[in-house]
Amino acid sequence: MTQRFELIRDADLQRLNSFGVAARARALARADTRDGLVAALDFAASQGLRVEVLGGGSNVLIVNDLDALVLQPQLRGIEWLRQGADGRIRVRAAAGENWHAFVGATLAQGACGLENLALIPGNVGAAPIQNIGAYGVELERFVAAVEAYDRVERRFVRIEAADCGFSYRDSRFKHDGERHLIVAVEFALSASPQLLLDYAGVREELRSLGIANPAPVDVYRAVSAIRQRKLPDPARLGNAGSFFKNPLLPADQALRLKIGHPGLPVYPAAAGLSKLAAGWLIEHCGWKGYRDGDAAVHQQHALVLVNHGHASGRQILALAQRIQADVQARFGVELEIEPRVLRSPVLQ
Ligand code: EPU
Repeated sequence: MTQRFELIRDADLQRLNSFGVAARARALARADTRDGLVAALDFAASQGLRVEVLGGGSNVLIVNDLDALVLQPQLRGIEWLRQGADGRIRVRAAAGENWHAFVGATLAQGACGLENLALIPGNVGAAPIQNIGAYGVELERFVAAVEAYDRVERRFVRIEAADCGFSYRDSRFKHDGERHLIVAVEFALSASPQLLLDYAGVREELRSLGIANPAPVDVYRAVSAIRQRKLPDPARLGNAGSFFKNPLLPADQALRLKIGHPGLPVYPAAAGLSKLAAGWLIEHCGWKGYRDGDAAVHQQHALVLVNHGHASGRQILALAQRIQADVQARFGVELEIEPRVLRSPVLQ
């Protein structure tokens, strides 16, 4: 029998998480086929091991060694499907495809829509979990369906976008206890460009690139340039992007805060809520650029926590908790941690 998945016992996870924190797992399994994934899950069950799924590792904080089997789906492939009745271009990408490369591939085929989501780290399979978003676009706008292995029903299922429970940085997959192991995402993209350039900085960037009539690929380049300038490159400085969600508040509460703090950026959101810029709140509590050992708040962006080299997941989490307490005390606003926090109650 050929090996259906690769298995590494007592695996080192440091290079598998973009924070670069040192951590080990009981076992690491990698599978590049659907059968392999199911075999790895069966193996974990036979060993009594909990399973933690890890994609590109760019949106997790690993707090300590994991008493678990870490499963990395490495399924690859981009498949162009027949155009839907709605005239949208349908494309299916396997979970293990790199997100940014996939965005580039869609634009190369003349399929538009994902350009504002350029350069987000991670894999396609993780994108629906937190409903990635940037520069005025959220993934949900372009998802047709998610394909997953349902670990309860033990079969592959297709979940239509309307059933994915998408909202700001959220989906049902964040809350279903790892029930669904995402294997592919089907997208519905536009054949004609509908550019969204209103997010602060995008038009300015296009102008500075000397582009008057932008095409989607120009937006992709502009967004990439802004991200490269504002956000630390995880290959050089460990981080997981924004560490907190921008808080959603009832509009009247947000207005009261705005009156007390006129500089606070407040954006209208769905359902009578307002969204506050968490980066501003953190900066105005004095945390921007703060460093405690190797755990720090990024110099250029207060919403991003960074690892200068040897910070542990626990130290980064402790820093995050101090920031949360401070923002709560100063502004009465609760900050929710955005990346997935992985920790094991057994191994320390
Ligand atoms: N701000 C500050 N101080 C800071 C950082 C930001 O005052 O240190 C203010 C800015 O001046 C601006 C506002 O906060 O007025 C918003 O800042 P920015 O445009 O950088 O966006 P963000 O709200 O901090 C969100 C996403 C990012 C995404 C950007 C761009 C979340 C949690 N984060 O950040 O996503 O790239 O918008 O669209 O929604 C990620 O999720 O990992 C991520 C990087």
